[in-house]
Amino acid sequence: MNILLAARDTTASLLTFMCYFLAIHPGVLKRLREEILTLRSGESPSYEDIRSLKYLRACLNETLRLFPPVPSNERASVKTTTLPRASPLEKPFYMPGPHTTISYVPLLMHRRKDLWGEDADDFLPERWLDEKRVQELTKDPFRFLPFNAGPRICLGQNFAYNQASFVMVKLLQNFDTFDLRQKQDAPEGAIPPESWKNLTGRAAYEQVWPRNVVTLYAKGGLWIYMGMSRSQE
Ligand code: HEM
Repeated sequence: MNILLAARDTTASLLTFMCYFLAIHPGVLKRLREEILTLRSGESPSYEDIRSLKYLRACLNETLRLFPPVPSNERASVKTTTLPRASPLEKPFYMPGPHTTISYVPLLMHRRKDLWGEDADDFLPERWLDEKRVQELTKDPFRFLPFNAGPRICLGQNFAYNQASFVMVKLLQNFDTFDLRQKQDAPEGAIPPESWKNLTGRAAYEQVWPRNVVTLYAKGGLWIYMGMSRSQE
């Protein structure tokens, strides 16, 4: 069960939300396909091929930022301790031990405008190709947390990037249009309620209903028509 959750559900979540973004951002789909079609036609990508696909990596990272498959997490103290504050001038938090829990929500942290800029809510893979922004990010390993950070960082991180990249390459070698069919085909109750339009952030315009049971998923599934590319017909 543990490995199904750690390896399968997380990767499925990443692929689900990546397909969602490609369906609602046809410009990104076009650019990504162009990059993928630079590989030897139709062949399965090697590890080296995948490493060369910079825009694909940017799209995966941007999906992991806005929809981290493990959207919330917690830690507990094993003994009485303190947690440092952002500023060394502030007093640290007191954590009586054992078993004081502290929750954190990477999904919200990844959307903070003070950390990610005014465009934090937008799906913008290009931010991962902007050297200045990436430099700023790598200064702090706890800012981008889809795989967690520190001693218990995900052991399968590289495997996950490789596997998700492989699947996306094979998909985009064969399909060139993604049409979101959530409104037409998803089961009743799967569409975000009208009242969300009055909320702030992405909720006001999201077209899938993200839900969390340890890992993130689209309520009622993600419904998409994919059009086979001419060369594959
Ligand atoms: C997109 C895919 C993935 C995401 C987002 C992800 C995310 C995470 C996160 C957030 C943790 C830390 C959990 C915690 O300590 O609270 C974790 C741990 C772990 N992950 Fe992944 N993971 C992914 C794929 C994989 C894959 C493919 C494997 C194995 C092939 C894997 C194996 C593990 C293992 C064994 C741990 C426990 C590490 C430890 O506690 O020392 N993960 N993962």
